[in-house]
Amino acid sequence: MRILLGVTGGIAAYKSCEITSLAVKAGHDVRVIMTANATRFVGALTFEALSGNPVLLDTFAGAPLPESTSAIDHISWAKWAEVVLVAPLSANTLAKLACGLADDALTTVLMAVPRPTPIVLAPAMNTAMWDHPVVRRNLDWLQALDRYVLVDPVSKRLACGDVGAGALPDPSDLLGLVTTATAPSSPVAVSSS
Ligand SMILES: Cc1cc2nc3c(=O)[nH]c(=O)nc-3n(C[C@H](O)[C@H](O)[C@H](O)COP(=O)(O)O)c2cc1C
Repeated sequence: MRILLGVTGGIAAYKSCEITSLAVKAGHDVRVIMTANATRFVGALTFEALSGNPVLLDTFAGAPLPESTSAIDHISWAKWAEVVLVAPLSANTLAKLACGLADDALTTVLMAVPRPTPIVLAPAMNTAMWDHPVVRRNLDWLQALDRYVLVDPVSKRLACGDVGAGALPDPSDLLGLVTTATAPSSPVAVSSS
């Protein structure tokens, strides 16, 4: 399966490396798009080494797919995917998606992913952020679009020391969801681990 993995600037970005590794070992073809802030947590080189593919970082830099006939990267990367996973999804990029912004490579590609390709979003953040009314509203807006499969974060002790909802689900659980994702539905809950 061709899995497009979006990584944003959250502390759980290191778990995306494991998602990539697990997916490749399971025989999937993985391509990664990172926000600029994601690269402050994990280097693009790590994802390139794990996936065996170049990472898309910049809408305008030129990262054509070898098999693509289009010179427009955000279109060809969007069309390449059989399923899209954004993990971790930051509160910031979540807000951008809810508002329809496309000001970086990740949000631009996400806007261009054709239906019915499933787009799975796995937000992860501090509990107070997760509980913030503007995040709740943005989640409601995203759900109303009937375009995204939202995976609830799990409750556990977070990197900041707080205990509560906000952690990215286990990489193998997320990979399982992604490879069976078909269409937008109610939020998917993954049990805490
Ligand atoms: C150490 C550290 C950890 C962070 N962890 C998270 C996080 O888990 N979730 C989140 O939404 N934002 C987190 N942030 C804040 C984001 O990095 C920040 O909002 C950034 O603008 C997100 O950019 P992006 O959405 O373009 O990747 C963290 C910031 C720092 C400095």
